[in-house]
Amino acid sequence: MKPANVVSGFLRITLRVIADFLIVQIAMLAALMVVALQLQTGSEHSVRMGLTDLRHYYITLFLPLSILFPGFYALSGLYTTSRTYSTALALRRAASSAGIAALGMLSASFLLPDSQTLPRMAAVIFATLVILGTPGIRWLKHTLFEHERAERPATVPRGNLVLVVGGAGYIGSIVVRMLLKRGFRVRVLDSLVYGASAIEDVLGHPRLEFMRGDCRNIQDVVSAMRGAGAVIDLAAIVGDPACDQDHKTAQEINYAATRMMVEIAKGEQVQRFIFASSCSVYGASEQVMDENSQVQPISLYADTKVDSEQALLAAANGSFHPTILRFATIFGLSPRPRFDLVVNLLTAKALKERVVTIYNGEQWRPFLHVADAAAAIVRVLQAPVGLVGGQIYNVGDSRLNYTLTDVAAKLVKFFPNTRVEHIENSDRRSYRVSFEKIKGHLGFTCSKTLEDGIHEIKAAFESGQISDYGAALYSNVKYLKQHGSPLQTDRLGSQVMAALAQKA
Ligand SMILES: NC(=O)c1ccc[n+]([C@@H]2O[C@H](COP(=O)([O-])OP(=O)(O)OC[C@H]3O[C@@H](n4cnc5c(N)ncnc54)[C@H](O)[C@@H]3O)[C@@H](O)[C@H]2O)c1
Repeated sequence: MKPANVVSGFLRITLRVIADFLIVQIAMLAALMVVALQLQTGSEHSVRMGLTDLRHYYITLFLPLSILFPGFYALSGLYTTSRTYSTALALRRAASSAGIAALGMLSASFLLPDSQTLPRMAAVIFATLVILGTPGIRWLKHTLFEHERAERPATVPRGNLVLVVGGAGYIGSIVVRMLLKRGFRVRVLDSLVYGASAIEDVLGHPRLEFMRGDCRNIQDVVSAMRGAGAVIDLAAIVGDPACDQDHKTAQEINYAATRMMVEIAKGEQVQRFIFASSCSVYGASEQVMDENSQVQPISLYADTKVDSEQALLAAANGSFHPTILRFATIFGLSPRPRFDLVVNLLTAKALKERVVTIYNGEQWRPFLHVADAAAAIVRVLQAPVGLVGGQIYNVGDSRLNYTLTDVAAKLVKFFPNTRVEHIENSDRRSYRVSFEKIKGHLGFTCSKTLEDGIHEIKAAFESGQISDYGAALYSNVKYLKQHGSPLQTDRLGSQVMAALAQKA
């Protein structure tokens, strides 16, 4: 750690210790004051005696014992400089530490030989004020200063330059806009498989640099990574059916290119590498899957994600910090609308055809709005590298785990004339996912519901923004079928990809 950081960390802890110590003193003085006011109803002599006792209790017993409070708080972990838990958890921890310390202090003052006992009412007032005040001061600091900190443009090393690979896609086109809004310099590398329309209107932005290129091409990747402090990798052939169109191309883009980008990123001293993976790595399972659960990929798409994750995590070291984000199934509108995603497609069908077909309705899926997916990426980018480096996070929200039958029920509420057809087939993908880790580490929860997504798609149809949801441009697999796979034209590049596609 830099000396300046050590000094500022020390100062922050000292201030916290002083604040906690003052809260303990204020709580006891307030409690004693209430007792003193009650004494006023007695005779002059009893008032004088009572006040002398209270003063004596405070000076000879409470003051020396209260020094133990900060010591106990330190042992409970309230004075660490790392931020490894969310605000809610930190507040709960402060309240429980304060409660235990107050209880210990009061027991000691009753048990010590020759000690004056504290009136019961004062003990209750003291304990209540300490238990509320200790987390309260932290909440106040968080409310006053953290909000302001979140608004400030964040920085990444090396001139604040972030490379977004696949920045013209469904998620990428929102990520790029969010980064520009927060003051980052952004470079996009994209081969524009589905065209440039999703980022056309930001191409003139003074802090955006666009490079049309292929993440399988060494020269393109080296040029794109030069000078970048962080990489967000979103380029892929996305979805099981799209990957099944052409296994070789999917393996090249989704896995071999990741391996190559990792090596080039390390060579170019890029510190952060955020990789878009998928909750589909969990395959079929009855249990709620967390980041430690066994992965069980049951498609080529999920296979390429698992292999890329392993390559990235194996490459982590003191200067290269990959973070894996396993996204839930995404829905909602973006500058590159997609209607090959279950919620978007079912909404369009309910609206336009008044009939939706649900395959294996009891399958569980975790859902995530596309804007929340982008927000999670930015949150990780802005988090301390020591916290997120080398980590896997499921990205979503436990409140958005639904069965496909649940999704149909929500659609019927929006479009009451919709007929729901149920079909059973051999697709066994079903998984419920825990999102506690990203919530605990980064305080991330989703801001948008499934209903929000359905509502915005309905509005896009009504305003004429979208008419033919069946157009090939809105579906990866249809588009690739029509236009063919994005092949690697460079011979050397093909050979490099063939070599890297072999599992390490
Ligand atoms: N959409 C989802 O539901 C979902 C869910 C989980 C994970 N993810 C992951 O998130 C990432 C982004 O997904 P998306 O929905 O935005 O996909 P998308 O298909 O809309 O975007 C992918 C982008 O990558 C670009 N690209 C493809 N091949 C390239 C290459 N060889 N070189 C350079 N650019 C290339 C495309 O032109 C496109 O702009 C992917 O890695 C995907 O696997 C998506």
